[in-house]
Amino acid sequence: MPDFHRKLERNSIGFVIAIVLVAAIGGIVEIAPLFTIDETVEAAPDMRVYTPLEIAGRNIYIREGCYACHSQMIRTLRDEVERYGPYSLAVESQYDHPMLWGSKRTGPDLARLGEKYSDDWHVAHLINPRDVVPESVMPKYGWLQRQRLKVEDLDQHLAALRKVGVPYSDDMIQNATEDAKAQATPDSRGVEGLTQRYGEATHLRAFDGDPSRLTEMDAVVAYLQILGKLTDAAYAAPAVKE
Ligand code: HEC
Repeated sequence: MPDFHRKLERNSIGFVIAIVLVAAIGGIVEIAPLFTIDETVEAAPDMRVYTPLEIAGRNIYIREGCYACHSQMIRTLRDEVERYGPYSLAVESQYDHPMLWGSKRTGPDLARLGEKYSDDWHVAHLINPRDVVPESVMPKYGWLQRQRLKVEDLDQHLAALRKVGVPYSDDMIQNATEDAKAQATPDSRGVEGLTQRYGEATHLRAFDGDPSRLTEMDAVVAYLQILGKLTDAAYAAPAVKE
């Protein structure tokens, strides 16, 4: 073997070919799975898009760096599935730009958080995590409850997301600001348009407990309550190829 190596090193053309071959193996191993991506990514015909209020909450989640302690991807390992629920499918984050899968878990994974707790629980937990989980090391986010939510530019956020493939209609983009207000003000006139555009199952309520104000807390809790609820694909029996 040392003889072979010495010979190869002295034959420059042969050595270049050997390098290219070895590098190509690494490349193919990385690229090959992408050839079948159309078949491996599941379909989720029931999947709905985030409402403008949920997008606002998602933006605050990113702004506050929640992703630095929380992942949003349940792996295909038995202990993960037992703790959090069905493992995450690629299709579930098809409208997530940027995706928030993450890898660091100082706190628990949040991919299936929606409807696990009440809105009140989330509000209390975000204001002071230690009030509901005494041993928690999560920081306080009390200002979310005091800060008015900025909704005037939500149409631009939706338009930008449409550019990268999220199917927002012109109607959704034009009404983004009104829809955000309506979702957290259940008795308002805008509710009808909102459910027409995003479906009857859309959560409608004063997420922060006060219907008279639209706060950042409303947006963050609306977002947390929809995590894992945009589609039921992960709960369906695995598709069998005919
Ligand atoms: C410094 C790390 C850290 C940051 C940053 C952080 N968290 Fe947490 N989070 C934790 C820890 C630790 C727990 C587990 C203890 C608890 O429930 O408070 C937790 C728990 C949670 C839970 C309960 C999950 C469950 O299934 O019980 C939610 C919801 C949550 N965090 C949301 C957020 C949101 C929203 C943000 C950003 C505004 C955030 N966290 C930022 C560390 C963090």
